[in-house]
Parts: sequence; C-alpha cells; structure tokens
Amino acid sequence: MRPTAVLSENTFETIEWKPEGVVMIDQTRLPGETVYVTCRSYVEVADAIRNMVIRGAPAIGVAAAMGVALGSLQSDDLDRDMPVICKALRETRPTAVNLFWAIDRMQRVYSTVRHLGDETIRARLVEEARKIREEDIAINKAIGRHGAALVPDGKTVLTHCNAGALATAGFGTALGVIREAVHMGKKIDVFADETRPFLQGARLTVWELQQDGIDTTLITDNMAGHFLKSGRIGCVIVGADRIAANGDVANKIGTYSLAVLAKENSVPFYVAAPISTLDLTLVSGDDIPIEERAAAEVTHLRGMQLAPEGIKAANPAFDVTPNRYVSAIITERGIARAPYDRSLRELTEGVPDYRG
Ligand code: MRU
Repeated sequence: MRPTAVLSENTFETIEWKPEGVVMIDQTRLPGETVYVTCRSYVEVADAIRNMVIRGAPAIGVAAAMGVALGSLQSDDLDRDMPVICKALRETRPTAVNLFWAIDRMQRVYSTVRHLGDETIRARLVEEARKIREEDIAINKAIGRHGAALVPDGKTVLTHCNAGALATAGFGTALGVIREAVHMGKKIDVFADETRPFLQGARLTVWELQQDGIDTTLITDNMAGHFLKSGRIGCVIVGADRIAANGDVANKIGTYSLAVLAKENSVPFYVAAPISTLDLTLVSGDDIPIEERAAAEVTHLRGMQLAPEGIKAANPAFDVTPNRYVSAIITERGIARAPYDRSLRELTEGVPDYRG
C-alpha cells in the first residue's frame, strides 16, 4: 500500500470507496502524519485491518464489506472466489463482531443476486458496501442524539480507546455522544485515557477532539481511578467491540478496570454502540473471543525497546466488562438498561440483520 493523498486541515474521511480502490486514513501514522492509503485488492484490505491501518469495530465492518466488493470486481469466477475472499477477511481480527456482521450481510446479498449476470452482482455488492458506510454515519448520529441526554452538564466525560469518527465511518459512537452533547450546548470537557499499549487515546481520540475544538485532557490509564474518586467525572462513555445477550461488553483492554472504578465511585458507566455490535447468539461475555496481539506492542514503542530483551509480555487487546458494571447501553434505536437479556432483545425487534 502506498500513500495517495494528504489530509486537509480539520477534516478527514476514515474510509471511502473510490474508483481507484478503498481509501482509508492510515491510523498507524496519526497524529504525526495524516496520510491516506489506497487498498487495490481484498488482500490489501485484509492486511490493513490486521495491521490496524483501520481499526475500531464499525470501521473494520465497513472495510470488510468494501473488501468483499473489491474482491468481486477482481474475480472472474464469483462462485469460486467469494468464499475465499470472505474467509480471508474473516480471519483478520476475531473480537469485533461488526466485521463478521458486515461480511454476513455481503454474503446474503450475494446469495440473493447470484443468479444474475456478473456485472450486476458486482454492482450490487459495491452498492451494499457503500450503503453500510452511509448507514453507519447515520446510526452514529442517532446514537449521539440518544446518548447526549445522559451526559451531565458542567462535568468531565472520561473515555477510553478511540470510539470516534476514526473508529467508524464518521461521527463516532462514544465520541458521537460527546459531540452531540457539546452541540446541544452542554458545558463539558473530556478526559481521554492514553490506552496502552496501542495508544488509541493518545494518538487518535485527542487528535479528533482537538480538531473539533472540544476541551480535552490526555491522561495515562493509571490516572483514571484518581480522577474518578475526585468527583469531577460526570460519566464514563466507551464504545464496544461485541456485546453478548446478557449485556456483557467486550471493549479495549482496560475498559473493565475503568468500569469497576466507576461503580466504586458511583459514576455512571455508559457503552455506546450500534445494533451491529450486538451478538445475541452469545449468552454471556465468556464466549467472546479475545484477540491476543504481538508482545512487541507492549515491549516496544514505535520500534524503540522499552523492556529487557527476552522478557515475556502478554497483550490481550480486549477485556470483558460484566453487565453489572454497565449503567446503560446506548444504541441507535434507544437506550437499554438492565436486565439486558430483555432490553437488548426489545431493541432488536424488527431489525432484519443482527446476530441473534
Ligand atoms: O483494537 P481497536 O483499536 O480496533 O479497538 C477499538 C475499540 O476497542 C473501540 O472502543 C471499539 O471498537 C468501539 S469503536 C466505535
């Protein structure tokens, strides 16, 4: 993959379908460099997801859908190649269910148009991938509208990882709620955890919020308890990678500790996520696969060795927060509260394509 464009100031697109391929902002190079890469094959899209050029549950769902569409354009035997393309994209990252949701949706479209000519099938797959992107932006705005009412005026919002425009097709889930609260005129500021080891908070969240002119303070992950105890944090809002039927939430490693600290200090802990992040086929979070990433992400920082040579390092990329710590789950269809088995089912009534 090579850089093809430079970002203009204060505005960016996370991912777009363009005639030359799937164009995404390279999140491994932010905030130092704002560079776009163009993926010209489904293999390049799969690599971009695996290497976190694009990351965040909804964003990798959009990328995977576009990868399927791109693969179809380059195939001269769709029946032979579609399963191969989908398998390669499914094997990129295991935790965020939006990836599998999006590929399932593309496969369903393929099954319904398979009997038509190849050109029609390809056009339909491209159309669906673009639709998933457009829908995601609208969904995030709806999440923002539902969630903004929950944000206490005059307080600080604490967030973890990046659940913003960069983690979605645009606007963001947790950051969408914050954006909408600011838009409503609430006087809030944001504390962003740096989010070791990949530093999505330090590199991406504060970059996004700074561009919006939202008052933002970067803290290291181990400062969260101190500030939660201080009384200045009005609520915690995070995104999610997969939510089980009982409301257990998989999200970036460190979310669980934050949720426990929030409860200990009577601070509401909110999860903002689209219905496509629900996996109601899983009874509880115990069944959510947790990605283990390379030890080098912990022992090294941008190639610089931090830890002694040969030391073992663990690197689970996500953890599961039990539902008892979750004050509410904010979706585009409204807000779910405990008991989640019932409230999440109710929210999905009439939704054609979610897992469950
Ligand atoms: O490893 P990442 O950066 O893909 O993890 C991202 C997160 O954990 C986000 O909080 C989650 O995907 C929600 S994004 C709207």
